[in-house]
Amino acid sequence: MTRKFKLILLVAILLIGSNVRADEGMWIPMLLKKYNIEDMQKAGFKLTAEDIYEVNQACLKDAVVGLGREGRPFRHFCTGELVSDEGLMITNHHCGYGAIQSHSTLERDYLKDGFWAMSREEELANEGITASFLIRMADVTDKVLDGVTEDMKEADRQKLIKKHIKAIVEDAEKDTHYRASVKAYFNGNQYFMAVYEIFKDVRLVGAPPSAIGKFGGDTDNWMWPRHTGDFSMFRIYAGKDNKPASYAKDNVPLKPKQSFKISLKGVNQDDFTMVFGYPGTTTEYLTSYALKMMTEVDNPHKIKIRTKKLDLMRADMDASPLVRIQYSAKYAGVANSWKRWQGEIKGLKRLNAIEKKEALEAKFEEWANSTPELKKKYAGILSKMKAYYAEVTPLSLARDYAMEAGFRGAETVGLAGKFKNLSTFKKEDADKVQPEVEKLKKDAVKFYKNFNLPTEKKLLAATLKMYNDNISDEFLPEEIKNIKLKYKGDFEAYAEKAFAKSIFANQEKLEQFLNNYKPSQAKKLSKDPVFVLSNSISFLYGSKIAPAYGKIMNQIDKLQRTYMAGLMEMQPEKVFYPDANSTFRVHYGKVSGYKARNAVQYEHYTTLEGIIEKDNPEIFDYDVPQKLRDLYKSKDFGDYANEKGEMPVCFAATNHTTGGNSGSPVLNANGELIGLNFDRAWEGVMSDLMYDPEICRNVSLDIRYVLFIVDKFAGAGYLLDEMNIVK
Ligand code: ARG
Ligand code: GLU
Repeated sequence: MTRKFKLILLVAILLIGSNVRADEGMWIPMLLKKYNIEDMQKAGFKLTAEDIYEVNQACLKDAVVGLGREGRPFRHFCTGELVSDEGLMITNHHCGYGAIQSHSTLERDYLKDGFWAMSREEELANEGITASFLIRMADVTDKVLDGVTEDMKEADRQKLIKKHIKAIVEDAEKDTHYRASVKAYFNGNQYFMAVYEIFKDVRLVGAPPSAIGKFGGDTDNWMWPRHTGDFSMFRIYAGKDNKPASYAKDNVPLKPKQSFKISLKGVNQDDFTMVFGYPGTTTEYLTSYALKMMTEVDNPHKIKIRTKKLDLMRADMDASPLVRIQYSAKYAGVANSWKRWQGEIKGLKRLNAIEKKEALEAKFEEWANSTPELKKKYAGILSKMKAYYAEVTPLSLARDYAMEAGFRGAETVGLAGKFKNLSTFKKEDADKVQPEVEKLKKDAVKFYKNFNLPTEKKLLAATLKMYNDNISDEFLPEEIKNIKLKYKGDFEAYAEKAFAKSIFANQEKLEQFLNNYKPSQAKKLSKDPVFVLSNSISFLYGSKIAPAYGKIMNQIDKLQRTYMAGLMEMQPEKVFYPDANSTFRVHYGKVSGYKARNAVQYEHYTTLEGIIEKDNPEIFDYDVPQKLRDLYKSKDFGDYANEKGEMPVCFAATNHTTGGNSGSPVLNANGELIGLNFDRAWEGVMSDLMYDPEICRNVSLDIRYVLFIVDKFAGAGYLLDEMNIVK
């Protein structure tokens, strides 16, 4: 080797060895300094790790909130960011959708027409939504795993871990109003605690009409190029002491430690970009066996069931504006994963993901057998895993049907499930009856607001038929077998009969039943056809599926934990990122179009012109509001146009995001807000399982389009006054 060559080789090794590559990964904020900051700065980032995460001073993380629900605030369903010193927060339209819908009626339809609070008094309270700020985090692995040994029984291990976590959480929360949560990382090889300040009074400030906020609807969902103005605005309120308080009329707007500056500079191809937020779940380190089960068995069936449900809902929604309002959120919910799963299967095929996993597993096997010590720890775990997956596959499918075609097949089945408690009350439980009845009445009001019996009947008949046709007798609930016999397989006839009799057929019947409920009426409940069905599914699920499934999954989890540790040990030079788990992460990459398929190259941004191109009053998803057409025509874009005079709408980038990142702030190299993350592109949605920098793209709404809509379209420009907008 020449000296020069040696030197090049050394530099190359250092480059590979010393750091991680941008794009792929969702990184832990407190570890940026150790693992990522050099790489980030090389990629263009102009600030420091402390500017993002620092415990003792205000920093960018303090302008980000995880959105959750009362009762389970740590399962963030979306992300939001603060854009003013008066608690103003932006997130996606689809994240605020439930709130917007809950304030809507046929006469006053905020989904259709949009909503803008013209004063603080007009801001609308939302029961149950929480906004959490991350105060600090800490690696608590040693404490959590204290006394845990490898030969421990899995159940004992979990018990001990739970006990430790409880103590850690109590200790962290002591004498504070904070809430702490400890979560597993790297399949339980590491544990981090996050301490949050959780606000509970989050009010709706504004939302564009769905024709903007949901433009393209489910047709364009998961697609690039994209033109959705997917944003809504809320304000976080606090008690007079600026601390979390339950809703009260005289709460005051929160004064956050930090809010984002908003940049009008926009983006160019290859610009550095980063996303902060709360990605929900990814599984990047699964084995080929897991991937096979998912893509060859579970997901194809789930897709099939949902296709049916969606077709039925769609037909009724198209026929009635009321049904459209009632079912739009539910439809979007069912459609979302349904579409993603389809893209995922394609994307994984295209990447030859299973072959790649198999190759890695072969390498692992060889490595695991290379020394006696390694053998002791890792030999044979993959073949065990393979056997467990073979065993769990039929259970997993039965579980999918119980969920997708059972509990969530027809909606009353789920509702009836909530009546289980009530049905068990005896005479001596008289005092428990009233509180339970009140709770159920509340559920019922919510439920029937968005309910259409004819649709429900079709859903019930169709999902039961699929359940029956696809699941072997062993895993079929008794009641479905009974129905099949009694109605000779005519599930539609059954659905008619069932709802003619059931108290769940409508709100009046159910309320009548609940008013003056006494334990002696449990009998009537236990004979209700929908209740019987619901019970039968949950009995089968609880006796035949869940325990067996859980037992095997426990073994798989244990093996996966060992496999994960082994992968890390085998590749000591590689910096691993943990799978998403609804905790705060930093994603970074660059703005970029991509080559979607043969001969198709996409640009990195879209403009208002694309909206006008799609405009078609005949197609619900593409019906552009007249005012937006007018603004386009007059080119009245204010300060928000790009240097070419176009009105930007969305842009694509390589940030490795997932569900839960919706609403996440998208920042430029200076940490200024340039957009809101809201989706990923269809060709790359397999990034939850395997990321590919060539084709995986997150989709963001350009902040300039947000400001343009608020200012020029909605005439709510006063909201911009409290923002810090930099040119
Ligand atoms: N695909 C995006 C996400 O996963 C948006 C979903 C809501 N929009 C819709 N059209 N369903 O959340
Ligand atoms: N729309 C998703 C969400 O609600 C984000 C898209 C994704 O899965 O990346 O979080």
